[in-house]
Amino acid sequence: MDIRYTTVQDAQDVRQILDLQAANHPSAISLETARSQGFVTVRHEPDVLLRMNRAYPSVIAKDGDRLAGYCLVMPREFGPEVPVLAPMFDLLETLTWRSRLLRDGGWFVMGQVCVAEAYRGQGVFDGLYAKLRNVCRPNFDFVVTEIAERNARSLRAHERVGFETFHVYPDATTGEVWHVVAMGLEA
Ligand SMILES: CC(C)(COP(=O)(O)OP(=O)(O)OC[C@H]1O[C@@H](n2cnc3c(N)ncnc32)[C@H](O)[C@@H]1OP(=O)(O)O)[C@@H](O)C(=O)NCCC(=O)NCCS
Repeated sequence: MDIRYTTVQDAQDVRQILDLQAANHPSAISLETARSQGFVTVRHEPDVLLRMNRAYPSVIAKDGDRLAGYCLVMPREFGPEVPVLAPMFDLLETLTWRSRLLRDGGWFVMGQVCVAEAYRGQGVFDGLYAKLRNVCRPNFDFVVTEIAERNARSLRAHERVGFETFHVYPDATTGEVWHVVAMGLEA
């Protein structure tokens, strides 16, 4: 396996992200697969994802022409563009991580991470985050995201690369319990 870690280069990369995202949405997988392998919650509008990647290219893992995984960079200004994430952005403004008020900035949201099934458990997740740290360090101090508590695989993988949970809350509508996690980008 010869994986190359890079950033989104063109619209074809964005299309591959959308395909992998769709394949890992609960509408495309069984409950058992979601439980054991994880799942994504958000489905992005193609034009929003394209604009987001033009502003801040996301990190991707490529095996030749094939997309092995992605890690989305979502700066705060894109919060209003993905309405389903609006409550999360509102909440983040009220939180503190390691004595830093999030409303003071210095962070971005990791908008979604996914590793294609054939590449799981082989270090691609860690490779994506190593690249993300390098790419984003010049512009940000830390990265924030939230993970559904029932996505135990994702929670574990994020903990392993250095994320720490600093807030847990249930979504008022769905009851889904979310872990808000952060990781510093220092070398
Ligand atoms: C979540 C995901 C990105 C992780 O990538 P990955 O390559 O599978 O992750 P890894 O195999 O490197 O790490 C998974 C860790 O969870 C553990 N794990 C695996 N299945 C698990 C489960 N059902 N419950 C708890 N832990 C689990 C593994 O043992 C490993 O931990 P370890 O290193 O301590 O042994 C990937 O599985 C994926 O894309 N899933 C579908 C989409 C998704 O869930 N995205 C995240 C949205 S927040």
